[in-house]
This record gives sequence, structure tokens and C-alpha cells, in this order.
Amino acid sequence: MSEKTVLVTGAGGFIGHHLVDYLVRKGLRVRGVDIKAPEYAPTAAHDFRLLDLRVEKNCAIATAGVDEVYHLAADMGGIGYITSSHAAISLHNTLINVHMLKAAREAGVKRFLYSSSACIYPQYLQTKPDVTPLREDDAFPADPEEGYGLEKLYMEKLCQYFTEDWGFPTRTVRFHNVYGPLGTYSGGREKAPAAISRKVAEIADGGTIEIWGDGQQTRSFMHVDDCVEGIYRIMQSDYDRPLNLGTDELVTIDELVDLVAMTAGKTVIKRHDTSRPQGVRGRNSDNSRLRSVLDWEPHIMLKDGIVPTYRWIEQMVAGGAAQLHDPAAEAAE
Ligand SMILES: NC(=O)c1ccc[n+]([C@@H]2O[C@H](COP(=O)([O-])OP(=O)(O)OC[C@H]3O[C@@H](n4cnc5c(N)ncnc54)[C@H](O)[C@@H]3O)[C@@H](O)[C@H]2O)c1
Repeated sequence: MSEKTVLVTGAGGFIGHHLVDYLVRKGLRVRGVDIKAPEYAPTAAHDFRLLDLRVEKNCAIATAGVDEVYHLAADMGGIGYITSSHAAISLHNTLINVHMLKAAREAGVKRFLYSSSACIYPQYLQTKPDVTPLREDDAFPADPEEGYGLEKLYMEKLCQYFTEDWGFPTRTVRFHNVYGPLGTYSGGREKAPAAISRKVAEIADGGTIEIWGDGQQTRSFMHVDDCVEGIYRIMQSDYDRPLNLGTDELVTIDELVDLVAMTAGKTVIKRHDTSRPQGVRGRNSDNSRLRSVLDWEPHIMLKDGIVPTYRWIEQMVAGGAAQLHDPAAEAAE
């Protein structure tokens, strides 16, 4: 095993859990931290600690003796959750992020990777389903998603200032909708691929599911295996400005439903509810800069990645594991 010790915050969550697996397979010594234990599978971390990272002294405990930090912990969820929880999300994520960045610098951490989001991009550039893919430089003039996106954008700038003024090495990654097994699929924080998979798994062949919006809103979706590989590659790179990490395979939400239905082998009737939040009208990732920095980009097609995702959710639903569905959440971020 390598002598290098890395910290993954949010290791009890969806991407964090997969990232811990990936880094352990790379031979690194991995510490995982989260406010909750992993929900669906045991962690592979060598050392897993339950800590509330909103509290400054817990961030010092988390970062002690660590070489690199992959900072994923956040209060987050699908569009229903992030549009109805501005105060909680802004407060919690500000505390987590500021305390983590400060503690990492004070602990002498050599690299700090921050997980930002496509939600930082201006809403005025995302008004049409056939949206122009978003480039990193489009972030300003800013008009991000209220609360969640605004706080992410501020933390991006804080990372930049720590690097410019104090030479603290940071990496900033803007994820575009991530999906895969072991992600939240019920309870109110699930996102579109998981929510739709759960709804399809719950109905009989020929049944009806409710879709938020008119189904013509568009997104690109990245499989979590591509996501963790991209995170690792970006951490190794010398590039310290924000980078998109997503696919540029644009699909409508109706097309996503059709793919899930095909995977399930079911005929599904769609009932659209336009009174529900649907987020921006269209969002896609421009990967030009990612390709030029890494000579790599995510490559798992949605039709392939959705298969293990649906199968896992189908199994969870069949096992009766679905938590009570909170109608105040879901859909694409
Ligand atoms: N999943 C996506 O599509 C997506 C898209 C863009 C950005 N992101 C970002 O990627 C990161 C990981 O997202 P995810 O999908 O794995 O979400 P997730 O909710 O599954 O994981 C986040 C984890 O952070 C933990 N956390 C929350 N508050 C905490 C606290 N006070 N102290 C310690 N841990 C705390 C949660 O318990 C959770 O396990 C987040 O920063 C998120 O904003 C995700």
C-alpha cells in the first residue's frame, strides 16, 4: 500500500462511497468521513469516522495526518430539495466548506479537491432544451441556482483565492448529474435517473408514472464509474481552475424514461405534472477543456450505465427497502 493517506469527505454518500472503493483499489490509504454511515453497503475505507463537518474542530480531526483531501460532503439533493431548502443548504454547506478548506490548509494538506456542480452556471444560458453546452468561462456574469449553486460558486472562488494568495493547491470539479448504483433512490433527495428507476420498478407492466415537468427538459448524465475516474485524474493533473466533469450526451427526461422502461422490459405510460419543479430547461457539458487537460473524458453511454443502476434499484424496491417517498423532492439537479 502507498504511504499516501487521502481523506474522502461525504464517504457515506453516493459518489464518496464509490470514490473510496476506487482509491482503495489504487492502493492508497483512505480515511472516510461523514455525518452518517454508508446506507447501502459497507465502506472500503481503512478508517471511517462519523463527524459533523459543520463544526470547525471536527474538520481539524478529519484532516490531521492527511496528504490529500477529496471534499465531497454536502447537504444536497434533487431539484425538489434544493429549491425548497435554500436556508439550510446555504448555511450547512458554507459551514462545511469554509471549515474544511481552512482546516486542510492548517493541517498542511498537499492537495484539496472541491466537488462543485453544474448548478453554478447562469440560469439565463439554460432556457432552451437544445441548450448550448456550458463552458467553464460561462460561469460569469453569474446567475446560479439559488442557494445550492450560489454557495458552490462562492466556494469555488474561495478555493481560487486560497491558491492565488496563499499557494494552497486546490482542484475544482463541476459535476454534471451523476447516477449509478448505491445512490439515493427514495426519501426525497433522489435525482432524476434514480427517481424514474424507482417509479418504473414500482409499477406493473403497462402502469403509469408521474414525471415532473413536460418531459422535454434536457440534461446529460454521467455514470459514477466515469465520475470517480475523472475525479482521480483531475486530482493528479496540474490544472487548478474549475473543470466540467460530465458527458455531452444530451437527453430529454422523456427519453430517460424510455431508456429505463426498455431496461425494465415494461411499457410505461407517462403522466406529466408541469406544476412540479423541473430546474433549468436544458443543461449540457462542454468537455473541450476537460479533454485538453486530461486527454480523457467520461465515456459510459446512458443506455449502458442505466442497466446496473436500474437493476440495483429494482432489487431494493423488491426487497421493500424503499423509504417513504417525500413528494417535496427529486428530478435533475
Ligand atoms: N450526484 C450528483 O449528480 C452531483 C452533481 C453535482 C455536484 N455534486 C456534488 O458531489 C458531492 C457528492 O454528492 P453525492 O451525490 O454523493 O451526494 P450524497 O448526498 O450522496 O453525499 C453527500 C454526503 O455528505 C454528507 N454530509 C452532509 N452533511 C454533512 C456534515 N455536516 N458533515 C459530514 N458529512 C455530511 C451526507 O451525509 C452524504 O453522505 C456533493 O458535494 C454534491 O454537491 C453531486
